[in-house]
Order: sequence, then C-alpha cells, then structure tokens
Amino acid sequence: MKFMTAEPFRIKMVERIKKTTKEERQGWLKEANYNAFKIKAENVYIDCLTDSGTSAMSSEQWSALMLGDESYAGSKSFYKLEESVQDIFGMPYVQPTHQGRAADYIMAKLYAKEGKYAIGNMHFDTFRGNAEVLGAIPVDYVIDEGKDTASAAHPFKGNIDINKIENLIEEKGSEQISVVIITVTCNNNGGQPVSMQNIREVSALAGRYNIPVVIDSARLAENAYFIQQREDGYKNKSIKEITREMFSYCETATMSSKKDGLVNIGGLFVTRDEEVLQMAQQLAIVHEGFITYGGLTGRDLEALAVGLQEGCDQQYLEYRINQVKYLGDRLEEKGVPIVKPTGGHGVYVDGRRFFPHIPQHEFPSQRLVVALYEEAGVRAVELGACAFGSKDPVTQEPIWPDVETMRIGISRRVYTNSHMDVIANALGEIYKNRNEYKGMKLVYEGPITSLRHFTAGFELL
Ligand code: F0G
Repeated sequence: MKFMTAEPFRIKMVERIKKTTKEERQGWLKEANYNAFKIKAENVYIDCLTDSGTSAMSSEQWSALMLGDESYAGSKSFYKLEESVQDIFGMPYVQPTHQGRAADYIMAKLYAKEGKYAIGNMHFDTFRGNAEVLGAIPVDYVIDEGKDTASAAHPFKGNIDINKIENLIEEKGSEQISVVIITVTCNNNGGQPVSMQNIREVSALAGRYNIPVVIDSARLAENAYFIQQREDGYKNKSIKEITREMFSYCETATMSSKKDGLVNIGGLFVTRDEEVLQMAQQLAIVHEGFITYGGLTGRDLEALAVGLQEGCDQQYLEYRINQVKYLGDRLEEKGVPIVKPTGGHGVYVDGRRFFPHIPQHEFPSQRLVVALYEEAGVRAVELGACAFGSKDPVTQEPIWPDVETMRIGISRRVYTNSHMDVIANALGEIYKNRNEYKGMKLVYEGPITSLRHFTAGFELL
C-alpha cells in the first residue's frame, strides 16, 4: 500500500531554512571559489551535502539525553549503549569512539599492515587515508556491475568480486593480504547494498586463508532492509535478525553512528575477539578517552543507544528507503541520468552522462553541484574527478576515477517529499539546458590529493 511509505512520525519542532535569490547564491558561490564545502550552511536551502550527523533526533532520544551519566568510568549510559549494540550486532565487545573515522583509525592500526593488501568493495576515504599512512595497499574489488551506473539489473551492486580476491591470493599469496573490509552499504558507488550471500562467501573464502573480515557498518540498517526486500529467504526475517547474521560473518565491525545510529556524533568499534578488544581499548584510551566513553558524553551514549534501535525499525526503514527512491523516480521521469537502482542514503547523478560534452578533467559532477546550488539553493557533493582523482606517484600525471557522480545525500527524518520535488524540478530544468553549461578549472588544491575536495578552489570556464 503506497501510503504505508509516508513518514511514520509527526513533527513537533521545526528549524527555519532560508530561501535566497539566484543573484545572492551566485555571489556566495564566487566567494566560496565554487566549492560547496565553503558555502555557509545558513545560505543553503536544502542541504544534501551528506547524510552524516544530520539526522533529526526523536522525542525519545531527546528525553534520553537527560539521563546521560557523565561519570568518567563505568557510566550507566555506557552499559545501556553496550546492550543496544550487542542486540543489533550480536557481538560481545563494544568500544565507543567520537565518530566513525576514529574507529577506522583503531581498526587500521590493528588490521592494515605495511606492504600488505587491504581488500574492500570500495574503501571509504578515512580508512583509505589511514591505511596509506600505515603503508598498506588498499584495493577496491567491487563487482563490475557496481561500476555500471546505468544498469539496474543487479540488486546488490555493492558486492565484492570473489574472483578478484582469489586471483590476488593466487598471485601474491594469502599472507600478503592483511584484511578484507566490507562496507555496507557501499557509499562510493551509490549507497548500493551487499547481499548476505556475498558477505557469507567472502567470509568463507577469507576464513580458509585466515584473513580477518571487518564490516564498515555506517549504514547497516539500510543494508539489512535491502537484504530483506531483495534477497531470497529473508522476506520474513526481522531487520535485527538480518543485522545479527551479517555480523556473524566478521571478526570486527566499525561504525560511524552519524548515519544509521540517528545521532549527530559518535562511532563504534565492535568485536567478538577479546584480544582485539584489548588492543582497541589501549588505542582508545590514548586517542579517544576512557573505554566506557570513547570521546563521547554520557548524553551522546544515551542518544545512540536509543537511535540504533530506531534506525532498525521496520516502518522507519520503509519510509527512509522509499523517500530516497521517490527522489530517484522523479529524476528518472525527467530523464536525469542517475545511478540505478537508487541506493540507501541518497541519489547519485552520473556527471558524465549528464554533461557528456564536459570531459572528466573539467569536473562535470562539480559543475553540476554548482548549477544545482545556483538554481535552487540545494547543496550536494561531488564524488568524482576532484574527490576521487589521484596522481601518479612518479610522474604526478592525474589519474581519473571510474566513479563520476554528484551525490544528493538525504538526511534522515529531516526533509519532506516537497523538498524532494524542489530538487527534482531544479535538476530537471538544468538537464533541459545542459548544453549551455561549460566545465570548470581547478585553480587550487591542498598538498594531500585524496583530501583536496574539502578545500579546492575552482573557476568557471
Ligand atoms: N565509513 C563510511 C562508509 C562512511 O560513509 C563514513 C563517513 C565513515 C566511515 C567515517 O565516519 O564521518 O563519522 O568519521 N561518511 C560521511 C559521508 C562523511 O558524507 O559519506 P565519520
């Protein structure tokens, strides 16, 4: 029934957002050197830069904040969080961290090894950065269908290509691979899910060679929902039964709680291995805080304990995934080339198919980000030539990525479908006039190429 996908909540507090004029936005774009990260949030009408840390908390979460136990050690709030995490992950040991990348750091210190391969479907930047600093070799082995933005045929485009892992083992030897990391859902290619079968098979293969498996689980509930809806044998399973099975195939999980945890800050390092826990706790004490708060306040732990449960709620997920699909459907009706099928946390527009006349070295997806803000005050993010571009370490020649998209990240429980219509209509208009747009020139970048998108400066050609 279609109405079942409407919001399973009502709104009791609102935050004003500002409508601005095109002339104003052109001025702000210029001041920001055409980089969306440098635009002031107050000058954004609908903010789709990210789905991270931007959720609206529920009345239950706000009231839980008042129970925050701010004890340095052994706070009541930690034990509530621990119980909530154990319930969803089915794993015994929980170390909170201040956000996902802190958990990634601890995980990289334990699992990424100098000169050895860290295999992933598509590694998120913060693990990749940590791994590279440690001298490890991160490789992305997402299935080929995962790179084909136009095909909606494969229901699990975040899956890892098992053959590629086997070939690497054959070629280099299993001792050259220190870890396999499965990111659910796969953020870099459209929030695409990973199937249970793939997680199970990757785990079995890695297990035969004693290679540990880690799950980067920022969007664990969205992934579980896709498994429930799309994979044989899961239709009658609850979201938590599915998450517990997912994590039964790994040794350790990291989580940025700023996504499916429905909180504004927080992260988790979760493991079933006692020795791994002990090492993680040592690193947490040095970098995050004592083991029962990990850089968070008691209030944060309380809000997360509740938010994790709400994030796994069937009715919430039905609304959530269908709102993203709603935007995707509106865009498709207008002919806008999006990554298909729509994923969990946003709609990704294919920059090369949108602006076929703008070559990758003139940043088509970034041009689209600028056009969308200019026309409608909507802020999205480039995941393409700028964010994922790299350089040959010897010649410094640019290397252009396979992925060339603009991500419209949808915050959880924040915007209505009227906002989705604004985004779809604006992009539809831009698409009609697409031939009038020219590319962009990168005029400034910081010293670390993999982080350049945060501070880069552009000019319009
Ligand atoms: N892993 C994944 C898959 C992520 O998407 C992110 C963050 C992190 C780890 C790091 O977590 O931000 O809490 O430190 N992704 C955000 C995004 C920033 O916009 O996709 P964090």
